Amino acid sequence: MKKINVGIIGLGTVGSGVVKTLRNLDYIEVVQIAVKSLNKKRNIENLDESLLTTDSFSVVNNPKVDIVVELIGGVNPAFELIKKAIENHKHIVTANKELLAKHGEELFKLAEKNNVVIMYEAAVGGGIPIIMPVKMALSANRIDKIAAILNGTTNYILTKMEQEGASYGDVLAEAQRLGYAETDPTGDVEGFDAAYKIATLATIAFKKRVNIKNIYREGITNISAKDMAYAKQLGYKIKLIALAKMKNNKADVRVHPMLVKTSHTLANINGVTNAVMLQGEPVGQIVLSGPGAGEFPTASSVVGDIIAISSELHKSEVMLPMMRCKHEQNAVPVEIKDTKNKYYILLNVSNEPGVIGIIGGVCGKHNINLASLLQKDSDEADDMSAEVVVITAKCLEADVQAAITELKLNNCIKEVKNLIRVME
Ligand code: HSE
Repeated sequence: MKKINVGIIGLGTVGSGVVKTLRNLDYIEVVQIAVKSLNKKRNIENLDESLLTTDSFSVVNNPKVDIVVELIGGVNPAFELIKKAIENHKHIVTANKELLAKHGEELFKLAEKNNVVIMYEAAVGGGIPIIMPVKMALSANRIDKIAAILNGTTNYILTKMEQEGASYGDVLAEAQRLGYAETDPTGDVEGFDAAYKIATLATIAFKKRVNIKNIYREGITNISAKDMAYAKQLGYKIKLIALAKMKNNKADVRVHPMLVKTSHTLANINGVTNAVMLQGEPVGQIVLSGPGAGEFPTASSVVGDIIAISSELHKSEVMLPMMRCKHEQNAVPVEIKDTKNKYYILLNVSNEPGVIGIIGGVCGKHNINLASLLQKDSDEADDMSAEVVVITAKCLEADVQAAITELKLNNCIKEVKNLIRVME
């Protein structure tokens, strides 16, 4: 078999795992690796240092390289590097969810024009095989719903908060100390990372391009230990859910925290583990779960893509159609205000007669049916205030927002502490 030559850009955690895993395959050779610094100590035995360069463009311009593996993440300089590699007729393997979500359309069009493929199994769910299974094994399906946990950092934080009754800030600080959360955790805790991933996954599943700009996003920074405790009392856990639904030819795609019934599979995905629940016709409902990040799980997906391309290279002029990504249509988005959900509302109210009636009256006026109510004396205070948790029946987001605005104006409502959607 003719040797396949690979050039790697980025030798961090994932890059190291890829180099080590590729050693098991004698027909694939790493011929060049771009790194940030030549002097860094690396956890790879017998690494041939002559392969290293600090000039990433020399990898994409290297005539020996058949496949460029991009593992640096972020838009710049990855975007320019991959474009150049494609123009040089290299096939691409990438784990870069941000780049795909923001510039996938341009990159896939350029790849088509140059008759090369871009593969990205590692970009969604790390080690969980999801992209090629959706494109190939599930291609007979009309997929109408995905509910997923696609960010390990936030799932770790929420799991710890739930299990230890700890605050968001304390758990985040501990996660940062242990290296589970970045020094600047914004990308994870504000839901950007999960939004990039669901943009790509929904595009594949719905066969229509889902624009990242149309994805509603909320992170987990407002979730308190109190929310966790109330959710538990009511039989729920709180998870950061990436949701994608296709209904009446419109795509409702969003990332936000949700109360999930403790009996639901996604409620039992703990720590850094990721999971994707997918519903399609004719398959029904399936769940895939596993490690969403890490050296070897992510290398598993990256090397799988390298092998898939290698098995087609030099065999035919045109690579397998399933490896391609041709989306002619953009998905028509659903705005968050037009979605229907159940809601958890935590209120701090005056402890006086008639307050529950006021809450019920405002909700009723805005077509919101209440499913359950829980009242506690506030532990923050005196007997002047009480906490009320409302769980609504399914209702329109615009109506809930209008009701919240009206409740905030009422003197008996001291604070609307949180509003969290509830998974059906
Ligand atoms: N930052 C991601 C997470 C891993 O916390 O899941 C890489 O996608």
